[in-house]
Amino acid sequence: MAEEINFPKLPPLFVIRATAGVRAFLKRLHNRIFPQQFVLMEYATAFWISRAIGVAAELNIADLLIDGEKSISYLAEKTDCKEEPLYRLLRALASEGIFKETKNHHFALTKMADALRGDQKSMKYFVLHHLGQHNWELFGELKHSVKTGENAIKKLHDCEPFEYLQSHPDNYKIFSQAMTDASEMAVVTLVNDYPFSNFKKIVDVGGGHGFLISCILHQNKNIEGKVFDLAEAIVGTQNTFKKFGIENRAEAIPGSFFETIPCGADGYILKNILHDWSDEDCVKILSNIHSNMADDGKLVVIETIIKKDNKPSFGKMIDLQMLVGTTGGKERTLDEYTQIFNLAGFKLNRVIPNATPFSFIEGIRK
Ligand SMILES: C[S@@+](CC[C@H](N)C(=O)[O-])C[C@H]1O[C@@H](n2cnc3c(N)ncnc32)[C@H](O)[C@@H]1O
Repeated sequence: MAEEINFPKLPPLFVIRATAGVRAFLKRLHNRIFPQQFVLMEYATAFWISRAIGVAAELNIADLLIDGEKSISYLAEKTDCKEEPLYRLLRALASEGIFKETKNHHFALTKMADALRGDQKSMKYFVLHHLGQHNWELFGELKHSVKTGENAIKKLHDCEPFEYLQSHPDNYKIFSQAMTDASEMAVVTLVNDYPFSNFKKIVDVGGGHGFLISCILHQNKNIEGKVFDLAEAIVGTQNTFKKFGIENRAEAIPGSFFETIPCGADGYILKNILHDWSDEDCVKILSNIHSNMADDGKLVVIETIIKKDNKPSFGKMIDLQMLVGTTGGKERTLDEYTQIFNLAGFKLNRVIPNATPFSFIEGIRK
């Protein structure tokens, strides 16, 4: 029986934008009013809570609380931890609304802690990937990357980022599921804010577990789709197709986009792909698509667009992840996208913003 997709209900875009505007204003006000040492200290110590969330995810605390509140001694026994330090971890998290101390040394889930559960749509794998040991070590090398431009995987493991994942299948699984967690959060707007229904055949290039393409095909019964990704990344993609009842119209094809691309489709989606690669590599990937795409085909790149201002931006922060974790990858300005599109034979046709930090950047043949 195919799974129904329960798209999360989002307020209209103007409400989201207005709320974000008010929040940014209050934050600027707070930062201006409070002593600057205090404001800076808050930013500087933000990693305390990040790492604590990561450890709680690694210890599966949220899963242990699904049936109801539990005592610290129960949690310590199940996680193989000492009671006192585990209590201090959970007390710190509860102070930020992640878990709740219900009575003396007993903890329960909160709405935010629900997002760490493994038995439902959640951000558990996103947290495990970004705040786990591997990525933590990469960020420990941020200074090296800033000084040399070299990514931390090269320094620590002497290999390319995706080679590292290919030789560590457990990490690759967590990485791919982390990407799916993030996609699940964004999918309601990504599926509805671009006219995918105009396509007959689409390829999700680097589509991993196939969640995005499954949602697009589920909404558009006349489209056929392919996920094209490295063999290690598409373990389980067929299961996603089955889950959504689209297995007769969808296929998972292993391969590298530097060598080949499935041909003849009229829509090629690249979500969070180009930010992993240098300009030169992006032009190679896009040129490969250009030579395999149907004549009237379109390229749909989904990425952040960096603006030249001093405003808070998800893109400017995730760009640091690209610095430590990719070879030459980065978040780009619109001019930079225009340039790589041009070099690969595409004209940047239009940009469609939406409620997520990612925009649709559409390309057509020049
Ligand atoms: C940042 S993830 C994005 C995944 C997915 N598009 C999403 O947004 O959830 C990058 C993807 O590119 C894939 N990838 C990396 N190198 C590749 C290559 N040479 N050929 C095809 N896919 C590749 C990875 O396996 C991974 O699934």
